[in-house]
Amino acid sequence: MQNVRIKKPERAVSGELFFPGDKSLSHRAIILAALAKGVSSFTNVLPAEDCVRTREAFRAMGVEMETPSPTDLVVHGRGLHSLREPQGELSLGNSGTSMRLLLGVLAGNPFQVTLTGDPSLSSRPMRRVTDYLRQMGASVEGRDNANYAPLTIRGGKLKGIDALLPIASAQVKSALLLAGLYAEGRTSVTEPLRSRDHTERFLSYFGVVLKEEGLKVSVGGGQELAAKSFEIAGDISSAAFFMALALLVPGSKILFRSVLWNPTRTGVLKILEKGGAVIRVEALHSDGPEQTADFTIEAKPLRAFEVTKEEIPSVIDELPILMVLATQAKGTSVIHEASELRVKETDRIVSMAAGLSEMGAKVEVKGDTIMVQGPASLHGARVSSFKDHRTAMSLLVAGTAAEGETVVEDVDCINTSFPSFFELLGDLRIPYELNFYSP
Ligand code: S3P
Repeated sequence: MQNVRIKKPERAVSGELFFPGDKSLSHRAIILAALAKGVSSFTNVLPAEDCVRTREAFRAMGVEMETPSPTDLVVHGRGLHSLREPQGELSLGNSGTSMRLLLGVLAGNPFQVTLTGDPSLSSRPMRRVTDYLRQMGASVEGRDNANYAPLTIRGGKLKGIDALLPIASAQVKSALLLAGLYAEGRTSVTEPLRSRDHTERFLSYFGVVLKEEGLKVSVGGGQELAAKSFEIAGDISSAAFFMALALLVPGSKILFRSVLWNPTRTGVLKILEKGGAVIRVEALHSDGPEQTADFTIEAKPLRAFEVTKEEIPSVIDELPILMVLATQAKGTSVIHEASELRVKETDRIVSMAAGLSEMGAKVEVKGDTIMVQGPASLHGARVSSFKDHRTAMSLLVAGTAAEGETVVEDVDCINTSFPSFFELLGDLRIPYELNFYSP
């Protein structure tokens, strides 16, 4: 277990930052290329544990892949029906995206596979996917009626369904669209609010015809995918930690380069603007199915902001770092009905409220609504990551706004999504120390 200590930087941070490939995009590139016919190649693939789990799962099912470098990937796809039964279980570590999207793919494949995960993944709800896959014709077994991993799935002859999702979840939507590729007839998914739309964009780019009408998207079964090659856009959720640093450390200014620019993911920028941040877009680019942007953010005193229930899906992964910013914003910030935060890698309402309160923040939770009163003078403390990567990184950023020294315990989890996080902190000369003696 590695702990890290961090302090307030003595000077402003400035520079130009590029980010590793977006996690959601990297998973989808691997999956769709594995199912396509032909050779796909990608650059700036996220070399983090979660995406490696997806890549290795497809290798175990016979898909040939080369990794000329940790961020380059070449996939030799042989079509939708080319996967073969793996020799053992597929172990997916901490990755909810790997498990849910793979369930969708496996539902259409006529062999049996057991999917396992670490203790966190094994306690995350899977019936939100497996119930629908069973309706489509797959057989799935697991604890609590196939709600928790380990899950054993045997794919079958699927038939299309019309799914009306009670929650906005891109993972569920994606799993069903992937299963829909194997189904007879059409599969449609209707969400209560729009979740990230990368699967729809990627499927279209790989040549699949989709029909989108408002919050409903449908796919006809039996369509083959054609191989594609492109660069993966920089991860906006990882960039968000550095947006917070740019805002919090007085005098700072950061130029963010080639960051994913997709309206279902840029919610964090809209919220920051509500708090008074100025985001200056310098350039827009597109490569493959997504756009990217270069933009600058500079330090600025913030005012309190609200995140409405409708905005939650577009900022779901940025809520922990927004809670940190809220501690420094003037007034009471409110994040409304964030129940989905409770079923992430940990219950992030609990983990963030615990860490920030320990550091002197005023955080109140009523049901699933979070209220943060600012500005609070934070002080260094010893806090737990709860083995959750986004909690760990958010509390480290909070440490740069606190008086004294903050120790965040158990930060190995950061490798699941952002292995170069500390390298970037180092580039900005943020004073941190990893691997120190800590009984
Ligand atoms: C993801 C969707 C989100 C997000 C997760 C990645 C994806 O989860 O929190 O980190 O790649 O589809 P939900 O769709 O379950 O909210």
